[in-house]
Order: sequence, then C-alpha cells, then structure tokens
Amino acid sequence: MTQQVFARIAGTGSYLPEKVLTNADLAKIVDTSDEWIATRTGIRERHIAADGQTTGDLAYHAAVRAMEAAGVQASELDLIVLGTTTPDLIFPSTACLVQNRLGANGCPAFDVNAACCGFVYALTIADKFIRSGAARTVLVIGAETLTRMVDWTDRTTCVLFGDGAGAVVLKADTETGILSTHMHADGSKKELLWGPVGVSVGFKPDEPNCGVKIHMSGNDVFKHAVKALDSVVEETLEHNGLDRHDIDWLIPHQANLRIIEATAKRLDMPMDRVIVTVDKHGNTSSGSVPLALDEAVRAGRVQRGQLVLLEAFGGGFTWGSALLRY
Ligand code: COA
Repeated sequence: MTQQVFARIAGTGSYLPEKVLTNADLAKIVDTSDEWIATRTGIRERHIAADGQTTGDLAYHAAVRAMEAAGVQASELDLIVLGTTTPDLIFPSTACLVQNRLGANGCPAFDVNAACCGFVYALTIADKFIRSGAARTVLVIGAETLTRMVDWTDRTTCVLFGDGAGAVVLKADTETGILSTHMHADGSKKELLWGPVGVSVGFKPDEPNCGVKIHMSGNDVFKHAVKALDSVVEETLEHNGLDRHDIDWLIPHQANLRIIEATAKRLDMPMDRVIVTVDKHGNTSSGSVPLALDEAVRAGRVQRGQLVLLEAFGGGFTWGSALLRY
C-alpha cells in the first residue's frame, strides 16, 4: 500500500513595503477619520509599495524569507504557484519573474487569480501536486500591490487596502501537514467587487466605471463574505470530523475586523486565538493570509503540532479554506 503524503509547511516568510499610510494621513486626502475607519474596519494603517516597487518585488522578498526559514535552495523547488490579482505584467506571469530572480529556472511557475482568495487557491493547487506525488517541494506565494488600483478619491474603498506579500514552502511529509482544502466561486456576483478593465474588455480610462480601479458594494460584500465564510468553515470541520473547539488558531483573510469577529464567533473562538493583522496591514488581498501566518509563526504564537484554520473570501466571488497541522 502506498503511504499517504501530506504537504507540510516547512517555512514561512513575508514582506511589507517600507512606506506606512495611517488613517490620519488618509483623512488629509479624503473626507474620513481615524475613528470611522477604525470602528467600521479595524484598520489603523497600511503599507504602500514605493514607486517602481512591484508585486513581483514584494513576492521575491517574501519567498527568500520563506526559503531561508525552510532551509530550501532555489534548485530544490519543483513548482512555484503565486496568487495575485495585481501581476507585474499581463505576461509573463509574476511567478515566472520571481522564479528567474530566485534562480529556480526549470521548475514550472504560474499565477492564480482568485482575488483576495488567491493564496488559498494557490495553496490548494500546491497541496494537490504534493499529494499526487507530482511535486515534493513547492513555493506558494500570495502577493499584491492593490493600492495601485485604488481610487484615492473614493473614501468608501481607498481606506481599505494595503500592499504586501507572504509565502510558504511546502514539503512532502509522511507524518502531517495540510489536512484538507476547500475552494468555491460564484461568478454571478462579479459586479459587487471587481476591477472591470482588462486586455479583452479594453482599457478606457475616461469612461465611467472603466478606469483601473476597484469597484465595490461594501455592504453586499460584507453580508456575502460572512455567509460564505460561515459555510466553508462548517464544511471544513465536517469534512475532517472535527468539533469547532478542536481548532487552535484561526488565521482569516484580513479584510475587516467585523467579518473576522463574525467567523470567530461562529467557531466559538476567543479573539486571542485569532490572528489579526488587519489593523497594521489593511486588506492586502492574496498577501493577507500568508502575511498573518508568517507573523504568527515568527512571534511564536502558532507552534508545531497545532491545528490551524486558514480562510479567505474575495472578488469573483471566490472563497475557500485550508486546515493544517502546522
Ligand atoms: N469615512 C467616512 N465615512 C464613510 C467612509 C469613510 N472612509 N466610507 C463610507 N462612509 C460613509 C458612507 O458614505 C455612508 O454615509 P451615508 O450614511 O451618509 O450615506 C456611511 O459611511 C455608511 O456607509 P456604509 O457603506 O453603510 O458603511 P458600512 O458600515 O457598510 O462600512 C465598509 C463600509 C466598506 C467598511 C463595509 O461595508 C465593509 O467592510 N464591507 C466589506 C468590504 C470588504 O471586505 N471587501 C473586500 C472583501 S475581500
């Protein structure tokens, strides 16, 4: 009988650009206040990529740190999967750019676009490659420069987003690792959260609703996110025959503290078992979950052997989860 293989997280890394934009800074640009932003979202500040600093740059630095933590050389990588919705170029993929910079030439590399769920989708794909025996060492990255497509005159969206990247190195392991992953999408709700420009649709910067910017119906997104995350969390527990009290840590997508609290409540989890970085990072889209994971690991909060639940929700809509023994 062939032995079951798991994808175990061998190392984590992350990178945040130097520049910090506080709520007070934003109040100088749009009609808002620290009090409004903090109360409605939990966000106090976010990092902004410098001029010329790209998603690929952030991804590269996060990847180097994850590979150092894992003790893995570029030549050992069998695959690179990068979740992003703000790639450097239309092509080649940002994963290919990072691969070249790492000197990992030869191994397959590709991007996954699932908006804020990009890292969970990328992790799922990497897990399947390892489980099937098609790869043994995989670099998974979530990286974004979403502030590049923020409308800085729209107070309803510009206060929410930040730039950043996180990465993990997965290694095949016969003992333990990712226990299950769950992915979903619903394209019928696309207009509630989208960036409606592109190569095929066209870039028409002067047409209303066609500039390179994020359009969002915040209230609707909020309701759909809470419902979808409730359901995927239930699905994950049921699939693994676990009770909600079995989970040691919840590492949620960092979009809004109130959405995070709703999921924690559903799991009957005290907030000190939930990793929260939204206050310092804002919503870094695909970067958010691996950034939060890396911070929690480096702070010694998430420990080897603990049961960790990751979840995310994003434009598409897309949503998903991963349950792992760290
Ligand atoms: N500062 C001050 N006032 C603001 C504001 C800001 N930055 N943004 C909106 N407002 C105003 C609105 O104009 C509105 O004013 P009105 O009542 O005079 O019309 C009022 O605040 C309430 O707006 P509303 O949209 O109902 O607030 P909300 O409680 O739903 O909070 C969000 C707005 C965006 C914070 C919230 O809906 C949200 O977080 N949604 C999910 C978004 C998300 O996570 N997206 C990414 C998913 S991956």
